Amino acid sequence: MNFDKNGLRPLQGLGKRLFIETYGCQMNAGDSEIVVSIMQREGYIYTENIKEADVILINTCSIRDNAEQRIWGRIADMRRYRKAKPSLVVGIIGCMAERLKERLIDNGGVDIVAGPDAYRDMPRLVREAESGRKGVNVVLSQEETYAEIAPVRLDKNGVSAFISIMRGCNNYCAYCVVPYTRGIERSRAPQTIVDEARDLFAHGYREVTLLGQNVNSYRSGDVGFPELMAMVAEISPLLRVRFSTSHPKDISDRLLEVMARYDNICKAIHLPAQSGSDEVLRRMNRKYTRAWYLERIAAIRRYMPDCAITTDLIAGFCGESEDDHRQTLSLIREVGYDSAFMFKYSERPGTYSARHYEDDVTDEEKGRRLSEIIALQSELSTASNARDEGKEFEVLVEGASKRSDKQLCGRTSQNKMVVFDCGTHKAGDYVRVRIKGSSSATLFGEEIL
Ligand code: 5AD
Ligand code: SF4
Repeated sequence: MNFDKNGLRPLQGLGKRLFIETYGCQMNAGDSEIVVSIMQREGYIYTENIKEADVILINTCSIRDNAEQRIWGRIADMRRYRKAKPSLVVGIIGCMAERLKERLIDNGGVDIVAGPDAYRDMPRLVREAESGRKGVNVVLSQEETYAEIAPVRLDKNGVSAFISIMRGCNNYCAYCVVPYTRGIERSRAPQTIVDEARDLFAHGYREVTLLGQNVNSYRSGDVGFPELMAMVAEISPLLRVRFSTSHPKDISDRLLEVMARYDNICKAIHLPAQSGSDEVLRRMNRKYTRAWYLERIAAIRRYMPDCAITTDLIAGFCGESEDDHRQTLSLIREVGYDSAFMFKYSERPGTYSARHYEDDVTDEEKGRRLSEIIALQSELSTASNARDEGKEFEVLVEGASKRSDKQLCGRTSQNKMVVFDCGTHKAGDYVRVRIKGSSSATLFGEEIL
């Protein structure tokens, strides 16, 4: 029998298999890797086959209602797996667990509910469930960063990995549920981040993305986000560094200057605008104006003329008029985004906008505005990619392209996907490529020999 390190007690998970399904943002993907790491220490074995699992965990997202509806569908599916294996333990973890708490047990029939700061407690919660009691822990923490837990890398391309550098959010945008589900901001000690990045590099990884809801607020002692970026970039010129997401209100010149200084810091900034109308931005509590946002875009271009800029946009926020919507369209055109994530406003219970504003744009109208935004952005993405034709880029190879094993795919510093013929290359190589053609989503290139 296997015992824990001290030989004192049998490992609880011995011989048992854990399956985890992840929805939502990259923070969630990172959290799932933390949970697997915690459970492996208890002897659980990670499986990719849900049918052989003894424990199924669903790591959930609450950002929009349709994300939650999809997950309710998956929770209903769990009955089927339980029928096949009556001892099965089913747990809901992450943002929906934090938001709905015991209601997931009452309405969903699950065994465990664990919020984003309760993952160290997973083994106990599973033990409770195994002995027939429901396990609930939705306590949010002011300190938890899981700093010393080495994530078990589940997304195994072996080339690029995510590193969570902070948790939570203090911005309270009126529409957003994240501050309620993920708690207040806290940053990981810089040395633990640098060590994790160095370890990834030593294991062949060539790209890390530093993750946080608002990375510009990273602070640990004297180290702010620009300093942290520089520390990670110094590990090796062969290690690319990216980050996501930054808030327009505090993307500083200092950060832009550090980005410009290091070739291995990727020239791509995701800067969610949400709206182009000052009145809507004010009601969203975004704390910047359109003019401020455009000045920050100008600053990015001053420091890095070749930097890609992408964004998030919400159509049909409370009180959004046709004129406000036109201003969003004009902002999109003025900035000329390389790509964007675009959403219909979805009211989230408990948020400022749910409590104080009326969700007064009809669903049909939100749909129309969203399609106009998508159509415009697709035109701009196509144009942005077409402008790259004839140019040279250094591409970090991620693996075989989806369509053909004779072709590879990888990303430019600007985070655009490029497909080109294999030659002698493999995942993790840097290849100089000239762009020969493009679509709205992909560049097609040729190696420069
Ligand atoms: N409705 C629609 N979109 C939302 N987002 C966040 N909350 C909502 C909501 N209630 C979007 C924002 C954010 C992205 C992660 O999700 O654009 O930047
Ligand atoms: Fe939500 Fe705003 Fe925080 Fe982003 S910055 S997670 S949109 S509250």
